Amino acid sequence: MDSIDLSVLILAAGKGTRMKSNHAKVLHTLAGRPMVQYVCDAAEPLHPRHMYLVIGHQGEQVQKALDGPSVRWLWQRDQKGTGHAVLCFQEAHPGASGDLLLLYGDTPLIRTETLRRLVDHHRATGAHATLLTARVENPLGYGRILRDGSGRIQAIVEERDASTDQKQIREINTGIYCFQTAPLFDAIRRISSNNSQGEYYLTDVIGLEAAAGLRIESMATEDRYEYAGINSRMDLVMLEKELRSRKLDALMKEGITIRDPDSTFVDDTVRIGRDTEIFPGVVITGQTAIGEGCRIYPGVRISDSVLGNEVKVLDSSIIVASRVGNGTTVGPFAHVREHSEIGENARIGNFVEVKKSRLGNGTKAAHLAYLGDAIIGDRVNIGAGTITCNYDGYQKNQTIIEDEVFIGSDSQLVAPVRIGRGAYVAAGSTVTEDVPPNALAIARGRQVIKQDWVEKRKKAKPYGKGTEGR
Ligand code: UD1
Ligand code: CA
Repeated sequence: MDSIDLSVLILAAGKGTRMKSNHAKVLHTLAGRPMVQYVCDAAEPLHPRHMYLVIGHQGEQVQKALDGPSVRWLWQRDQKGTGHAVLCFQEAHPGASGDLLLLYGDTPLIRTETLRRLVDHHRATGAHATLLTARVENPLGYGRILRDGSGRIQAIVEERDASTDQKQIREINTGIYCFQTAPLFDAIRRISSNNSQGEYYLTDVIGLEAAAGLRIESMATEDRYEYAGINSRMDLVMLEKELRSRKLDALMKEGITIRDPDSTFVDDTVRIGRDTEIFPGVVITGQTAIGEGCRIYPGVRISDSVLGNEVKVLDSSIIVASRVGNGTTVGPFAHVREHSEIGENARIGNFVEVKKSRLGNGTKAAHLAYLGDAIIGDRVNIGAGTITCNYDGYQKNQTIIEDEVFIGSDSQLVAPVRIGRGAYVAAGSTVTEDVPPNALAIARGRQVIKQDWVEKRKKAKPYGKGTEGR
């Protein structure tokens, strides 16, 4: 395709009133990405000379949310309609020429292939404007295509402005167009806001161009997801469901077993290696990469994390913004929190919480522990009930546990503290001072045995009223 003459303009300034949201509509996510990102990604492979994005409502957030696209931002401070958005473009770039592929930011499932065909069709026919249309069962909410007796497009009428007869028309405007820029600029200055919404409709350009005898072409799509615009939460969920199921299909084709696609949520951004098996009720989101041969058991959530190969995440565990090495087991009921790094062949077991900590290879914390702000070496054994007391009421302090240390059960390590290589901490210790390498630290009350204490007590103080039930 001749990329020299093609620019892309994406309209994303609207508030999205029908979403009933505090956030700009185009920022609502589908399978982990803002909807407008999909539109940019679909257009990008056409290598347009420029890609412009019209922003307005919460425009700064839209700028921030878009994942490094090479777009040129264009502000539409008051959103007076899709036609007004194009007017803003014209004011900012009056000298723009060539063809303009115009898309709406709320139509995320549009495919690159269709855009390419639309531009090709536009050029092959020499049209002044080419519309992507669709024949649909239920045209509710879409602009209708009006044609004359010989089938030539005359205009687009919006649902709200359509007569009862026009509402019967089932050919709709998808909101995806290819325009010759010069006649578009000419017509856009002549549209009015004289309609039910008091807005400037881009769609009125089609009526003006047709009336001026310009050539309006159309191309149809049959893919009902491709043209679906998101106006409500129901639309959002409907399209997200489709996207998710495409993602799971793609994963299965790559050799991943997904036991129950209906209850599995995997973001579009996630990568998973072959022979990994995913059980029902699993949610994997964000920038997550999972290696080969892993098993992710029911009720697990993994976000923005990297898992090596052969990792097992047992039932009802959460891993967030962390890394887990090859062959390691996490869970059940484990919580690996942000910025943790678990080594290879390690074990984070039942009811263990790890936060901002590094655990070495072969290290085990098998039951009931809290490990926060800790650096833990290789082959360390963390007994059940171990707690790093990392917070002193003012700040977080670090615990360092060197290689091959053994921490007995129910120990508290009061940070900042260092346990030297190979040292042992006796069960039930409250460690407040550094332990040298290879030492044994016992930091608990010594056990006292009082022989026959019970008998003596009974004699001194016989059972009285109210103690019979003891
Ligand atoms: C629009 C079309 C309709 C078409 C439908 C397809 C018009 C007048 N109508 O209706 O014919 O069938 O899309 O989905 O174009 N926007 C701005 N600035 C504004 C207003 C809107 O940038 O001032 C952006 C929105 O952010 C949105 C897009 O334009 O991404 C479409 O706006 P929306 O209000 O959703 O138009 P529809 O009513 O769906
Ligand atoms: Ca819309």
